[in-house]
Amino acid sequence: MFFQVANLEKSFGGLKATDNVSLHIKQGDICALIGPNGAGKTTLFNLITGAIKPDAGKVIFQGEDITGKTAREITRKGIARSFQIVNVFPMLTVYENIMVAVLSQKRMGFNFFHPAKKIAREEIISHLVNIGLATQADMLAGQLSHGNQKRLEVGIALAMKPTLLALDEPTSGMSVEEKGEILETIKKLIKMTGCTVLLCEHDMNVIFEVSDYIWVLQNGRIVANGTVSDIKSNELVHRIYLGGKR
Ligand SMILES: Nc1ncnc2c1ncn2[C@@H]1O[C@H](COP(=O)(O)OP(=O)(O)OP(=O)(O)O)[C@@H](O)[C@H]1O
Ligand SMILES: [Mg+2]
Repeated sequence: MFFQVANLEKSFGGLKATDNVSLHIKQGDICALIGPNGAGKTTLFNLITGAIKPDAGKVIFQGEDITGKTAREITRKGIARSFQIVNVFPMLTVYENIMVAVLSQKRMGFNFFHPAKKIAREEIISHLVNIGLATQADMLAGQLSHGNQKRLEVGIALAMKPTLLALDEPTSGMSVEEKGEILETIKKLIKMTGCTVLLCEHDMNVIFEVSDYIWVLQNGRIVANGTVSDIKSNELVHRIYLGGKR
């Protein structure tokens, strides 16, 4: 299996945020992780990407046990993420934000910043074009609209050339129109790069439109999984979403 989580556990004090979670992702799939607020989606992203360490269980990526590795090590292995809450460098320009990712992906430190800057230029520009921010290249990232900051964040993650891209609510806080646009961009880029995707998203229209496979979390546990049509007709999922209770 391309990616697998087995019996993962994480507690915060008395709260089991991740409760015996096992799931897998097939290579090339867009795999969605859904569930109500507080279900444990971001915690699972944090465990997978090394932001926090699990209490128990395993994370296996391309046959390798990556459980407990640092975020940096996991990025190097080919897993990149975007954050639910925008996480760009606000005081750097849009160009520089992408540059940091490109240089890091090329293992080029800032100690030889100038030559590296030149080498990476074409690549940075092509990323900017791909995410639709070429004309904003010289703006400070902090001055971009919220939607464009989210767009930049996807660009930063993609500049890491991931084989698995984890997107935690890439459309949160966006207008319907912005949502549609960024989704089109994301779909195009996924096709272009061929990367596998783990997507967390509240908008069920988005989920049903893009997902190959869906995992449903509630109270830290996987309570359902299947294809779009499986999930659409799942009684429990209906209750979770219509009932609105955790
Ligand atoms: N660092 C932490 N310390 C204590 N509790 C935490 C921490 N991180 C998450 N939690 C708790 O774990 C539970 C799961 O939170 P998480 O952010 O993973 O949910 P989520 O599914 O991403 O929710 P949302 O849809 O609102 O983003 C929540 O009850 C949350 O309060
Ligand atoms: Mg979350």
